Amino acid sequence: MIEAKSIGKFFSVINEKGIAEGLTAVLNVSLTIPDGKIVSLLGPSGCGKSTFLEILAGLQAPTDGTIHIDGNLVLEPLPATRKEQIAYRRRYRFISPLANGVFQDRPKHDIAMIFQDYAVFPWMTAVQNVEFALKLRNAGRGGNGRLKRAELTEKAHFYLRKVGLSGTSNKYPSQLSGGMRQRLALARALSVEPKIILMDEPFAAVDALTREKLQDELLRLWAETASGGEHITIVLVTHEVQEAVYLSDEVIVFSPCPGTIRNSIPVEAKRPRARTDPALVEIQERIFAMFQYDINQEAEYSI
Ligand SMILES: Nc1ncnc2c1ncn2[C@@H]1O[C@H](COP(=O)(O)OP(=O)(O)OP(=O)(O)O)[C@@H](O)[C@H]1O
Ligand SMILES: [Mg+2]
Repeated sequence: MIEAKSIGKFFSVINEKGIAEGLTAVLNVSLTIPDGKIVSLLGPSGCGKSTFLEILAGLQAPTDGTIHIDGNLVLEPLPATRKEQIAYRRRYRFISPLANGVFQDRPKHDIAMIFQDYAVFPWMTAVQNVEFALKLRNAGRGGNGRLKRAELTEKAHFYLRKVGLSGTSNKYPSQLSGGMRQRLALARALSVEPKIILMDEPFAAVDALTREKLQDELLRLWAETASGGEHITIVLVTHEVQEAVYLSDEVIVFSPCPGTIRNSIPVEAKRPRARTDPALVEIQERIFAMFQYDINQEAEYSI
């Protein structure tokens, strides 16, 4: 279970006159996400969705509040002491959030994140990208839990097959289409077998038809992850109302900046869902009405 309590994020920015200005990106966000659910964070551009997701992942520290995952406090993954930092840099040469597990004194949260620009490494082939994630995860494991070289490659191919990329495992990201790159990011996230996947606008860069196909694939992969009766938890950031409603068990609607929770709407329709299901359409319309109200309020404000 993910529990966010009164999360706030304030950025100090130096303006062109050299004066410090502040911006509150996220304000007092509290929410609970139960295990195995798909939850969407929906809101206008710049309302703090990515910031909030990165706070959930422990990639940014909040300026207010706390995040707990399964009762453990989420901390930034950076090394705490100078000694740790030097040892870490020597070993990896850069600081990566995926390497959370190397700090044995930190709680490990089994999270994988897919970034807004899907952040696959352009100098690695598809299979090398997946293997890289597995190697980092290996580094955080004790001797017996580590995958051997051959197992690692086999696992990387297994997850590429799962997302339909088995024929392109030796291609570089630049040789893949946008939809394929997105699938690669998904394969990499799934390969480490996390309990939680955080996705920041995963389907934003593809055309409408590919987008619907990827949404259905995501649902299929999620359904396949039932281990011990529990699916993985997916937290997904999106601009798209239809996408949020179609995919989610709950849609959390953010207000314009500073992002606060405007409303939280459960979607109870059973899966598989029809995109045209009147119950889903009704929820979409309610959300559109909410956005319209916010826009009108803003218009009044600016007069
Ligand atoms: N490192 C930073 N320093 C200063 N301001 C920042 C920083 N990161 C984000 N912001 C500001 O915080 C606000 C929220 O940004 P964020 O990226 O979380 O929005 P978003 O909801 O993900 O938007 P989009 O839908 O366009 O991706 C924006 O006004 C942005 O300019
Ligand atoms: Mg964003």
